[in-house]
Amino acid sequence: MNDSNTKETVSITINSTGETIELPILDGTQGPQVIDVRQLYSKTGMFTYDPSYTSTASCDSSMTYIDGEEGILRHAGYTIEELTEKSSFLEVCYLLLHGELPNLSEMQDFERTITNHTMVHDQLQFLYRGFRRDAHPMAVMIGVVGAMSAFYHDSTDISNPQQRLIASHRLIAKMPTMAAMAYKYSIGQPFVYPRNELSYAENFLHMTFGVPAEEYSCSPVISRALDRIFILHADHEQNASTSTVRLAGSSGANPFACIAAGIATLWGPAHGGANEAVLEMLSEIGSKERIPEFLEKAKNKDDPFRLMGFGHRVYKNYDPRAGVLKPAAYEVLEEVGIQNPLMELALELERLALEDDYFVERKLFPNVDFYSGIILSAIGFPTSMFTVLFTLARAVGWIAQWKEMIEDPGQRIGRPRQLYLGHAERKFVPIDERN
Ligand code: CMC
Repeated sequence: MNDSNTKETVSITINSTGETIELPILDGTQGPQVIDVRQLYSKTGMFTYDPSYTSTASCDSSMTYIDGEEGILRHAGYTIEELTEKSSFLEVCYLLLHGELPNLSEMQDFERTITNHTMVHDQLQFLYRGFRRDAHPMAVMIGVVGAMSAFYHDSTDISNPQQRLIASHRLIAKMPTMAAMAYKYSIGQPFVYPRNELSYAENFLHMTFGVPAEEYSCSPVISRALDRIFILHADHEQNASTSTVRLAGSSGANPFACIAAGIATLWGPAHGGANEAVLEMLSEIGSKERIPEFLEKAKNKDDPFRLMGFGHRVYKNYDPRAGVLKPAAYEVLEEVGIQNPLMELALELERLALEDDYFVERKLFPNVDFYSGIILSAIGFPTSMFTVLFTLARAVGWIAQWKEMIEDPGQRIGRPRQLYLGHAERKFVPIDERN
């Protein structure tokens, strides 16, 4: 962290003692300034209190910038709209890992490297076979990605920059293979090996929907839509799963084990699990007539139901990723020739919610998960695979953020503190003397 950008300070006066301390204010290149509270405890004996991090910057990063009020998402300065239109997922992977777009020969090298790592160790298949066939594929992904830490010993010396890069390449290359294997296992079909002449998205589709008995081919509209979905999910600054990966990694843990921790966090319905929940919700609503009933449920504070795919901690505007996905959903539906009643339902739900004071006042807009499930189900993925696809794409963000953290010379183990509300010291009472 560069401390030299300190220009302003903030003063805090503790009313009970009259003591005043000054804390530096740091400027980012964009976005809100931050108050540097690192000296607060040593100067005052007090902590800051921000349990769900609504006002806390947990690190500095140069990777991804979000302006939630304006609905802006950029990676290394490039807007998500431009990246999804003009770039490819692998190029975005390079951008996240290196901070710059590759030139032609760098891109060719990168593609070759990723392609060379697409197969997984043969022994890994036995891990899959240890799971029940009806296991949720996210449970399988947590297990197999975590198990990579036991397979690739030549890329887990985190103090070696070359090994860190190899770990990143391996992860990006093997995620589609491992995700497709999770799917194949769940439906009882044989695993399909990667084909290195295919693009990243095509290869994933081939391993997912192909069978050894015949050639598989897919429409370029579908593979392009999938590639765009991967770009849209590649990174999203310090969200819950990325922060988990950073915190796990801050102890010096094996990188693949840290990624497994990120997958566990992403699985939750408030995070990546929402794409699965959106389709379940749309199916449950069933018809346009029932939308008002579900909007009322979402607004009722005594009802735990929330409108899935709506709202975001950072975006108080239309999630720009949903803005890209909405037209993409039309393209895919047209390509596969499906009249999808869920799309009609989603559009009507969005329209009615955005006219409703409850959602307007709270600035609740559709997020990335609102339309992605419709596209993924039109391509043929079952709902249980939706969060796996999110995982596949987000893996690059996790490993790039992990790498950025490890490469920060000031990096130390992350260790939050707490506001203790339990008992003060009390005497232990033997069990036969307790009431
Ligand atoms: N439906 C109904 N009410 C909502 C919703 C919703 N989806 N989201 C937020 N609210 C209400 C919430 O009840 C609260 O109302 P009040 O001020 O009256 O108490 C207000 O809006 C602010 O919400 P919050 O819970 O303080 O917001 P948060 O930042 O803690 O939660 C969220 C963000 C994404 C977890 C939440 O909006 C949510 O649960 N949405 C549905 C799940 C979802 O779509 N998640 C995917 C997020 S995008 C993909 C990703 O990054 O993983």
